[in-house]
Amino acid sequence: MFYVLHVLLWVITCYCIHPSIAVNNGTYLQQRAKLLLTEHSMRTGGKIELTDKEKTVNTVLMNHKSEEIRHGKKTGFYPAALHFFYSKAYIEDSEIYDIVRRMPKGAALSLHDVTMVDVDWLVKNVTYRPNAYMCFDQTTGKLHFHFFNTLPMSQDCPWKTLESWRLAYGNTTEFDEVLYRHMTLNVPDPHKAYPTQNIVWQKFLDALDSATGLIMYAPVFKDYFYEALKEFYEDNVQYIEVRCLLSEVYELDGTTHDKDWIVETYSEVAEKFVKDFPDFSGAKIIYSVIRNVPKVDVGLAVKEAIRLHQKYPMHFVGFDLVGQEDPGHPLLYYLNELLYPSQQNPPIDLKYFFHAGETDWEGTHIDNNLIDALLLNSSRIGHGFAITKHPEALELIREKDVPLEVNPISNQVLGLLDDLRVHPASFLLANGYPVVISSDDPSVWGATGLSDDFYEVFMGVAGENADLATMKQLALDSIRYSAMTDTEKKAAVDLFNSKWMKFIDETIQKYVKKPVEIYDEFKEVEEITGY
Ligand SMILES: *[C@@H]1O[C@H](CO)[C@@H](O)[C@H](O)[C@H]1NC(C)=O
Ligand SMILES: *[C@@H]1O[C@H](CO)[C@@H](O)[C@H](O)[C@H]1NC(C)=O
Ligand SMILES: *[C@@H]1O[C@H](CO)[C@@H](O)[C@H](O)[C@H]1NC(C)=O
Ligand SMILES: *[C@@H]1O[C@H](CO)[C@@H](O)[C@H](O)[C@H]1NC(C)=O
Ligand SMILES: [Zn+2]
Repeated sequence: MFYVLHVLLWVITCYCIHPSIAVNNGTYLQQRAKLLLTEHSMRTGGKIELTDKEKTVNTVLMNHKSEEIRHGKKTGFYPAALHFFYSKAYIEDSEIYDIVRRMPKGAALSLHDVTMVDVDWLVKNVTYRPNAYMCFDQTTGKLHFHFFNTLPMSQDCPWKTLESWRLAYGNTTEFDEVLYRHMTLNVPDPHKAYPTQNIVWQKFLDALDSATGLIMYAPVFKDYFYEALKEFYEDNVQYIEVRCLLSEVYELDGTTHDKDWIVETYSEVAEKFVKDFPDFSGAKIIYSVIRNVPKVDVGLAVKEAIRLHQKYPMHFVGFDLVGQEDPGHPLLYYLNELLYPSQQNPPIDLKYFFHAGETDWEGTHIDNNLIDALLLNSSRIGHGFAITKHPEALELIREKDVPLEVNPISNQVLGLLDDLRVHPASFLLANGYPVVISSDDPSVWGATGLSDDFYEVFMGVAGENADLATMKQLALDSIRYSAMTDTEKKAAVDLFNSKWMKFIDETIQKYVKKPVEIYDEFKEVEEITGY
């Protein structure tokens, strides 16, 4: 009797606790499909139901993607695994890029004031304007530009007109290429040219310095911003937010404009652009200071930000600290200055948009910037590259719904990683964490708008299964996480939806010549027995 019971118990235990013993291949595949389906629904875009038309476009896109991946595995040349300087031409020549570029991408939320416009425009348009001067600094050898009426006395930099430089150089095409190279990082062999992060950052800052001399001339300043809006608009981005240093803008006679003038000018140019192109939602700016200045300067800048936000609430939306993070001061260093708004009675509402965790180091003061950014109630986090090393921060970004601004090409070019398939955002996208995609400083590496970065996300960061739903979700999220008011967001989403429908129809027209067999990610599960 006992024996029978014992055996019965044994049988029950085995079958209930270790069901795998009894599993046949059919149940196994069912369990497997269920797990994959659960994971699918967790990822960014996993909850979006595509319409039939969208499914058709998705199929076109996914067929090209599979083909690209197959080709990459065969040849070893896979663009999203390579440095952008090697892959740019190939990427921009692909059908996927064509679709991604025409796809409405919502908002670009992580950009900087002097790195939005194709440097070719600065060279071909701005350096040809009257009164443009240029020199190489006698001691540092760095290239400077400036517009003058009459030359300054200083001889540290032997200024000559661009016209005379060109004449002396002889070959204008080559001369213009020299200028282009000074304002970008583009080189044939980036690994050789930039063996360390510090070296690439130094060249990056030099490039910004050179360009700044051109851009901060008042007439150019206005044109530059208009041109930036136009480039993003043409890339099917409908709204931008820009981190601005608000550094002095000068006139030909040497007089300069203050921050109020700069904010007003940004607003006026953005409003003019929206008037010219009513299917654009506008632009807002975020005041940023470099993260190595003394505490007192950050204190003053925070107060200035409060004042400017109160004066221009619709266009001036917050504050940030920027620049290379590792050698800078951690956010904690400026704690008292940054707590100032929340310590007032009543607390003053100043939104923060901190760059934080743009580092390969773990456990350093800089790595902990992520924690401080979250405790300081940052509305978004620039990069947050280090987030996967911070389980509590991961919880918090979900709970507080604070998105990370992911800029894949920036991270690659500035030396944080090489192969974008292992970018930490793969984890975030697979788990549906709040993320927006942006391009940071596209002009400096020759990228355009958001399309190159969206390509890299689609083909590299987000993996083989990422599809049109993933990209639609990212585009919608960029509007949701912007600093627009609720009314503005609603209008922006309506605008987005009409652009999206147009894009779907146009893509079908361009790419679908005969009916396509709809792409089904889970088809492989049924075919798995072939393995
Ligand atoms: C330079 O840009 C300005 C404003 O963006 C434009 O009006 C002008 O036609 C351009 N000039 C040339 C030579 O391209
Ligand atoms: C100028 O340089 C370019 C590029 O090196 C070359 O193709 C072109 O022939 C040169 N033009 C003249 C007039 O020498
Ligand atoms: C952050 O937000 C929380 C919740 O609203 C608030 O209690 C806290 O005081 C804020 N902290 C700062 C530094 O603003
Ligand atoms: C499942 O296993 C049975 C029995 O071993 C076999 O005949 C059948 O082909 C298998 N089915 C699949 C889909 O592999
Ligand atoms: Zn940035």
